[in-house]
Amino acid sequence: MTEQSQGPALDNLLTESRTFPPSDEFAAAANAGPDLYAAADADREAFWATQAERLHWDTKWDRVLDWSDAPFAKWFVGGKLNVAYNCVDRHVESGHGDQVAIHWEGEPGDTRTITYSDLLAEVSKTANALTELGLQTGDRVAIYMPMVPEAIFSMLACARLGLTHSVVFGGFSAEALRSRIEDAAAKLVITTDGQYRRGKPAPLKPAVDEAVAQTPTIEHVLVVKRTDTEVAWTEGRDIWWNDLVDKQSDQHTPEAFDSEHPLYILYTSGTTGKPKGILHTSGGYLTQASYTHFNVFDLKPDSDVYWCTADIGWVTGHSYIVYGPLSNRVTQVVYEGTPNTPHEGRHWEIVQKYKVSIYYTAPTLIRTFMKWGKDIPAKYDLSSLRVLGSVGEPINPEAWIWYRENVGANRTPIVDTWWQTETGSIMISPLPGVTATKPGSAQKALPGISAKVVDDQGKEVPHGGGGYLVLDQPWPGMLRGIWGDNERYRDTYWSRFAEQGFYFAGDGAKYDNDGDIWLLGRVDDVMNVSGHRISTTEVESALVSHPTVAEAAVVGATDPTTGQGIVAFVILRGDAVDGGEDAVKALRDHVAKEIGPIAKPRQVMVVPELPKTRSGKIMRRLLRDVAENRSIGDVTTLADSTVMDLISQGLNKGSSED
Ligand code: PRX
Repeated sequence: MTEQSQGPALDNLLTESRTFPPSDEFAAAANAGPDLYAAADADREAFWATQAERLHWDTKWDRVLDWSDAPFAKWFVGGKLNVAYNCVDRHVESGHGDQVAIHWEGEPGDTRTITYSDLLAEVSKTANALTELGLQTGDRVAIYMPMVPEAIFSMLACARLGLTHSVVFGGFSAEALRSRIEDAAAKLVITTDGQYRRGKPAPLKPAVDEAVAQTPTIEHVLVVKRTDTEVAWTEGRDIWWNDLVDKQSDQHTPEAFDSEHPLYILYTSGTTGKPKGILHTSGGYLTQASYTHFNVFDLKPDSDVYWCTADIGWVTGHSYIVYGPLSNRVTQVVYEGTPNTPHEGRHWEIVQKYKVSIYYTAPTLIRTFMKWGKDIPAKYDLSSLRVLGSVGEPINPEAWIWYRENVGANRTPIVDTWWQTETGSIMISPLPGVTATKPGSAQKALPGISAKVVDDQGKEVPHGGGGYLVLDQPWPGMLRGIWGDNERYRDTYWSRFAEQGFYFAGDGAKYDNDGDIWLLGRVDDVMNVSGHRISTTEVESALVSHPTVAEAAVVGATDPTTGQGIVAFVILRGDAVDGGEDAVKALRDHVAKEIGPIAKPRQVMVVPELPKTRSGKIMRRLLRDVAENRSIGDVTTLADSTVMDLISQGLNKGSSED
């Protein structure tokens, strides 16, 4: 990155220049005040020691951080704890056994209410069952399940026994499951017969059967009955959950494990085809997951009802459904299904029903809600909401404002939380009782965390400048490596700024004139047009600020004259006119007006859908293929592979070039 688009482009990104401080009442009652920053600045390690003390340790650590073998960190060295005990037992022991831990809402409308006492019994039974299967501390367990309570029981039972879980998103293919089982040499897969998808049962176990046919390490497949779908059965290998778990004792004594004991592996895609098994360990991870959940969402365990809409197949589900929230004695909603089943108001109906007070979701969903229209949330009583969160990609200011106005009643703080599978927990975010929030900016590293925006040489850029986001200090929840591949770990994250010892996150970012951080997307999504660097996010943000646009994705396509040309794919709003030549011209002019003529898209293609992974990320690689007239590459991780056909068919419609 030799040249960055600087101030002017950023100013244009600020299509919304208001800031939103918390109300006095909110600030006065908030878990985190400004003193938290001061405490962390005064003594970082002492600060993290204080946060670790929020947990129960069977043996206290001798040393907060050992960074002598960098980039392999050890946190809370010598300490011992049981992660599941911290998430379950201690809440029952402190007299909160009757508190609801999980309000579970199935997609077809069935529900389960699980108190902390229930959770303790279920996790204990599951742990006893896994022991009966012969699993031993250190063994790996694959979990391939929809959002059913047994998925959470399974994760916690693994944690309780010191087994390392590898959750594989239930929307992944048999091949994706196979390669993950093989990489971790897992001994057990826990799954369901089927899962509900948009109102219909879909089989799940056949994918497991296909995967484990080629993975000799698997000894058993444990199957929860969810949809009552007929399944093929391999005697001796396959076991029904009910047959094994129901008969177990609900008593189980947890053992304490070393702070650095592996807790889980979670695979995330890299630049090569082989997914990386991101390894997280116990004490430091739980400390940061717990601390961030408590302070970023201002969780009041006695009165809040929290809902994170992620799937446990992703890191957000690990840190902000399971480990962070449960360690804080949360009462939370867990929803099994899709947001438009059976209707587009399903989320708001759930918020109203359970009086959800903290709601954490992704920008892609917020933009989908925008597309469906504001009259849908307006039909429900959302007055219980008091904190809103966003995660997963940069949130454009328009979506942020829409979220605040139509979900947050112009009242609730919004926390835009930046982090990654690799960081384990939130790293950059407002604190809702402290920060005057800015639509579209994640703003500041949390107390105890250090992030910088640097140039090519690793030098911090001045306010108003852009570059690479790096993390210049180790943090408790950081990944401890890539499973089985230390070299790849060093190469991927630590080689770019090896001299400075910075972790390179792979994201581009800018400081605004106040020094607040704006995330600009992955650096591989930053385009270079005639020697000018333009973020896909900036152009998308400009497009979405046009009243006719519901969603936009922008890629840089190879261009013989300018290096790269900007190609935009847009979905128009339901009530907008069809995407004829005039509409397309208006959009190109709008971008030129918002950012500058340099950012004017070479082409704008009006499309009915955008290709997304099942986690909701837009697959720009596929769009680049379309934009560069290549045959479309691997679509196996697409949520709906027919989208690409639709886009290819729509190519001539609404496309415009000068
Ligand atoms: O590019 C950043 C983007 O998502 C990446 C991490 O993806 P993943 O490991 O799948 O984890 C997603 C959930 C934490 C980052 O490198 N990203 C995540 N949150 C934000 C974000 N980009 C901008 N703003 C965010 N709040």
